[in-house]
Amino acid sequence: MAASNAAIFLALICLLLPAYSSSAHPNNLSSHIRHLQGLKKGDKTEGIQSLKKYLHQYGYLHDNHLNTQQVEDRYHFDETTEKAAKTYQLNFNLKPTGVLDHETISMMMKPRCGVPDIINGATKMNGAGKYYNLAYALNKEEAPRVWPASRRALTWAVKPGTRKDVIDPLAKESIEPWSVASGKNFTFKYIGEENYNASDIKISFMKIDGNGKVLAWGAPPTEGMMAFDEDDTWEPGHVPGIGKVGLHEMGHVLGLPHSSDPYSIMFPNQGKTNTIGKSDVTELKKLYGF
Ligand SMILES: *[C@@H]1O[C@H](CO)[C@@H](O)[C@H](O)[C@H]1NC(C)=O
Ligand SMILES: *[C@@H]1O[C@H](CO)[C@@H](O)[C@H](O)[C@H]1NC(C)=O
Ligand SMILES: *[C@@H]1O[C@H](CO)[C@@H](O)[C@H](O)[C@H]1NC(C)=O
Repeated sequence: MAASNAAIFLALICLLLPAYSSSAHPNNLSSHIRHLQGLKKGDKTEGIQSLKKYLHQYGYLHDNHLNTQQVEDRYHFDETTEKAAKTYQLNFNLKPTGVLDHETISMMMKPRCGVPDIINGATKMNGAGKYYNLAYALNKEEAPRVWPASRRALTWAVKPGTRKDVIDPLAKESIEPWSVASGKNFTFKYIGEENYNASDIKISFMKIDGNGKVLAWGAPPTEGMMAFDEDDTWEPGHVPGIGKVGLHEMGHVLGLPHSSDPYSIMFPNQGKTNTIGKSDVTELKKLYGF
């Protein structure tokens, strides 16, 4: 083999190896998380880094906890990590032991919404199957993100060039039910892709984390954005369908955060319902004072 060929060969190997040794997609943490069952405070193993990344991604660990540490600290299931794991367990109605038991790992492996459960250090998920704690959020003097009273008749559109077969399920299953839940205080009108730039709510497909954990996200008011992971399957009949996932993301678009109530559509993963729950209606009305 000529020297230049060998160099190209080596460069190729170097390019390929990281792709194999991590997973097909750098953000795909599911494949790493599954091997962490049984770990607890005091344990030290490389995989704990993935646990910390997961907890960070959804708001349970601060960024500086990941960045400022020595490698041996990153592999360490320390007290801060245990605290974060317990909060995660509480939020998902699991026993808050801090131990990565089967139930906790299974919950973490589920496809979910990409919006963090904890934003600006405040968890509004309450644990014990309860809805998020709006009073707590308000006591913290956090301005609630809502659409102003002048914007109740909202327009929406799907990004030009996107498949047309999603418009109907989004309209019927994701968007109209929130108008009903709001007692028609909110109305939503589809205005066609040619008016996408001018629409209040812009819906698109983008690459998020491959065919992996994050299915979609929705931005809080008044950003008016919802995006689905284009690498996940959104064919008609596939579960969870675009209608149900879109219904959850519309909750975020209207300002609702995640909820610990598994019968709330705002539970971060599949939960136990496909429709807007009683607690969702109550909190929406509280948020807007309808
Ligand atoms: C992500 O990891 C899961 C679990 O190992 C696997 O089923 C899935 O195919 C992976 N996705 C990608 C894009 O690598
Ligand atoms: C708004 O909500 C209130 C309370 O649920 C309801 O009485 C009213 O009819 C709703 N609709 C409009 C258009 O105001
Ligand atoms: C919409 O905005 C995009 C990006 O800013 C721009 O490229 C495009 O031309 C706009 N489309 C219309 C119809 O104005």
